[in-house]
Amino acid sequence: MTELSGSHLLVVGATGVLGTELARKLAARGARLTLSGRSGEKLRALADELGNAVEGTVAADLGKPGAPMDIAAAVYGKELNGLVFAAGVVAFGPAVAVDDDTLDELMLVNLLGYMRLMREVGAQLARDSVVVQLSAVVAESPTAGMAAYSATKAGLSAYGKALTLELRRSGVRVIDARPPHTETGLATRPIAGDAPRLAQGKDPGAVADRIVRAIVDGEKDLPASSF
Ligand SMILES: NC(=O)c1ccc[n+]([C@@H]2O[C@H](COP(=O)([O-])OP(=O)(O)OC[C@H]3O[C@@H](n4cnc5c(N)ncnc54)[C@H](OP(=O)(O)O)[C@@H]3O)[C@@H](O)[C@H]2O)c1
Repeated sequence: MTELSGSHLLVVGATGVLGTELARKLAARGARLTLSGRSGEKLRALADELGNAVEGTVAADLGKPGAPMDIAAAVYGKELNGLVFAAGVVAFGPAVAVDDDTLDELMLVNLLGYMRLMREVGAQLARDSVVVQLSAVVAESPTAGMAAYSATKAGLSAYGKALTLELRRSGVRVIDARPPHTETGLATRPIAGDAPRLAQGKDPGAVADRIVRAIVDGEKDLPASSF
């Protein structure tokens, strides 16, 4: 059982649909949060809503390689009991047609930003803290028309598995969450291409509830089948 009350968590991608749901639910359980997202305006609105639960905010564009260092600076010297990485972008289209800007943004936002951030804040994670990384079902079942997105999420999952082994001795738990398609509107905001027709997705609130339950109950992995 992980006690969230009084703990300090860094939530990256807090302005997104799943990130906001997670921030609300963590705050409701008494966690103190440092919130990060791309838009300062959206961050301020969320911080106003969550009030005293918010310890700080930091706007940073993960499309820029220096962003993870800016995020780390916002929590520098503070103990962290958790990190939730819920930032991400999606792109659609054939693997043979994807352009460089799309590949760079997918890699920077979905994978490299997280790896650099972990390098910067990993040592601040207290014993018994928890890391949640939002991968996706495509890490388990790479999907045609989403090859590059699938690759970033599979990379994230692989990184998380190795991280689990490295951090276990320090008492840090890494949960690789791989939700199926969820009705957040992400598929309507691709950085390239157009989404194919998709079946009805999961409810974002239910997906966030499932993740928070995994944090609290000490679960170690959240495969697509667990949602
Ligand atoms: N929805 C799904 O079907 C689904 C399924 C499995 C996994 N996931 C993953 O879950 C995570 C959250 O997705 P979501 O569905 O909640 O989508 P979302 O609402 O679009 O949230 C995405 C988040 O990423 C942030 N972001 C995007 N580009 C950024 C950049 N350059 N720099 C910093 N932040 C950036 C967004 O910031 P802004 O608010 O500024 O845009 C937002 O906070 C993603 O990693 C996604 O891949 C989603």
